[in-house]
Amino acid sequence: MTNLLINIDHIATLRNARRETFPDPIHAAVLCELAGADGIVFHLREDRRHIRERDVYLLKETVQGKLDFELSLAPEIVQICCAVKPHLATLVPEKREEVTTEGGLDVLSNIKSVTETTRKLQDTGIEVSLFLDPVPAQIEAAVQVGATCIELHTGDFANAKTPKAQLEQAQKLGKGAMLAHELGLRVHAGHGLDYHNWPLFHQHVPHVCEVSIGFSIIARAVFVGMERAVHEMKTLIKG
Ligand code: PXP
Repeated sequence: MTNLLINIDHIATLRNARRETFPDPIHAAVLCELAGADGIVFHLREDRRHIRERDVYLLKETVQGKLDFELSLAPEIVQICCAVKPHLATLVPEKREEVTTEGGLDVLSNIKSVTETTRKLQDTGIEVSLFLDPVPAQIEAAVQVGATCIELHTGDFANAKTPKAQLEQAQKLGKGAMLAHELGLRVHAGHGLDYHNWPLFHQHVPHVCEVSIGFSIIARAVFVGMERAVHEMKTLIKG
């Protein structure tokens, strides 16, 4: 069974655009869980462009299922993550100018800092996942730095413009997932997964025990309501 964790950053983006107190990402998290989500994901960015510290602490108090804290290697954010103690910390690269996370973490070029951060989080009792492109050397490096889990970056698959390119990306992700599984890593996936591309993804990418999906579900919820949007994705994933 693949767990569905929902990223609620997009609700905070809407709230902040109007400099308001609503819509509240905490309300969204409650609705997602009531509709069948297995957990909630958020990304506390260094520039606090969507999720804020107040949200992080309230989510920790409120979320009943799994809580996944996405973060960069920035010591200030790592400190907050250690204080909050989510179930999972997913390390991602972060650039100020990007609209959303644009690619996987370059573990190979940052072995020392990723090892230190992974160890620090694990010593606090937090499981650590690394957000990676399906590149064999990066997946092997995840083992080297002591991570027990990876999240495969599915953005290139989601953004592929032709069926041929999409199939190639799905096969690449499939190979990455098999390698990670053989190396004893738990396999998560996320970025751009939606109601349309899920079947192809699922057909080609084995061993995925958890997905992190945000934009497609929140966007659909605007029109059909959160309960239906979550339920439809959950049903799709359940097969
Ligand atoms: N996983 C990671 C590491 C991400 O950065 C994001 C985007 O915030 C997601 C999953 C979810 O992507 P999307 O919002 O496109 O579903």
